[in-house]
Amino acid sequence: MIKGGRPLHGEVRVSGAKNAALPLLAATILSPGPHRLSNVPRLRDIDTLRILLEQLGAEVEINGDEVRVSCPKIKSHRAPYELVKTMRASVLVLGPLLARTGRAMVSLPGGCAIGTRPIDQHLKGLKALGASISLRHGYIYARARGALRGTVICFDVPTVTGTENVLMAATLAEGETVLKNAACEPEVVELARALNGMGARIVGAGTEEIRVQGVESLGPMDHRVGPDRIEAGTFMVAAAITRGEIRIRECPLEWMEAVVSKLKEAGVEISKEGDLVRVAARWRPEPVDLKTRPYPGFPTDMQAQMMALLSLAKGTSVITETVFEDRFMHVAELRRMGAQIQLQGPSAVVKGVPKLTGAPVMATDLRASASLILAGLAAEGITEVSRIYHLDRGYEKLEEKLSSLGAEIKRVR
Ligand code: EPZ
Repeated sequence: MIKGGRPLHGEVRVSGAKNAALPLLAATILSPGPHRLSNVPRLRDIDTLRILLEQLGAEVEINGDEVRVSCPKIKSHRAPYELVKTMRASVLVLGPLLARTGRAMVSLPGGCAIGTRPIDQHLKGLKALGASISLRHGYIYARARGALRGTVICFDVPTVTGTENVLMAATLAEGETVLKNAACEPEVVELARALNGMGARIVGAGTEEIRVQGVESLGPMDHRVGPDRIEAGTFMVAAAITRGEIRIRECPLEWMEAVVSKLKEAGVEISKEGDLVRVAARWRPEPVDLKTRPYPGFPTDMQAQMMALLSLAKGTSVITETVFEDRFMHVAELRRMGAQIQLQGPSAVVKGVPKLTGAPVMATDLRASASLILAGLAAEGITEVSRIYHLDRGYEKLEEKLSSLGAEIKRVR
């Protein structure tokens, strides 16, 4: 429940990045450990992956933001549909299981609210490394007789988890693997750094060409998860949409250039102040056009949040979603709050209105939930966002953090 109209003020800290923590946890399968991960966010997706790792035979201990994992022996090679259907990122255990044991049986992730989200590139890369892959009864059966063998793999499209899955498998393959058209996201860079800390030999992460020299085995991981650039971007929009002034701690500005540049174009003030980042806005935002792109372009995970802000702009903005084919589920809900948005194929034409009004709305996916909450913070009256289990997958205590910034928001049963 949100009562809108309160400008946000104060300081907020960004939690560890969900999309870094998930591949890092999957990578613990690659060696017995003991592994230690700190600054891990408390999220449903992390709990889901923990259950999966334990089913595979790992011992996982979570104390606050620290997660300790040891994986002396893989007891099962199966990632069941019941778990994978709740979190597609479970498919990240495929590469590590294959590299460690030569076997894996992972349920095919279904589609989700934002698109069909195939994993053909994951399978293409693992096959190229020598695995035999067959799909039966909704499961991927992967086998590698003997060690995987390094090779050159060129992805048809840049895929974040596809790059991560194949990168993890390549660390234990014989010889050199070259990944071309690889994803350049900061989460890939962070995974490569953690893997090199375990003894892997990876160069080029963060560019479209990553080279891996396979090694016999890997040692323990000891890594602090970096801050979540999407959560940070969400707080920037929260300050802008409520015309407040906040300071963000652990804000990874260096990974947020596309978002910062678009927000500044919309008239938002963003500046570093020591180890904090100041974000403020005093007026309605200027309209801006944006296209989502793989990193370092504008992140698709910030598209819904920007749409909420631009719904109040002094003019018309065109938002084009080029990464996923159906990531406009939040549009119908924003319209219920008075937003004027027309969909034209992959683009949303957003005609800014002077104000939004609170309404009961329904979350459909993680970032759509955030977008509706942001709109609620600015809307006149009460907004009730239902199905916020979507939100809990990717934001740690969001309503508490927003309350600490002065928002009138609470979770009601
Ligand atoms: C990761 O998903 C993120 N999830 C997503 O964040 C994020 O939206 C996405 O990257 C894009 O940045 C995690 O990191 C856990 P992709 P991923 O493979 O890896 C197509 C969130 O909100 N594709 O980079 O699944 C695909 O259909 C989530 O935190 C293939 O065609 O995304 C899409 O159009 C949502 N074949 C495009 O590539 C494949 O084998 C990019 O997808 C794989 C992908």
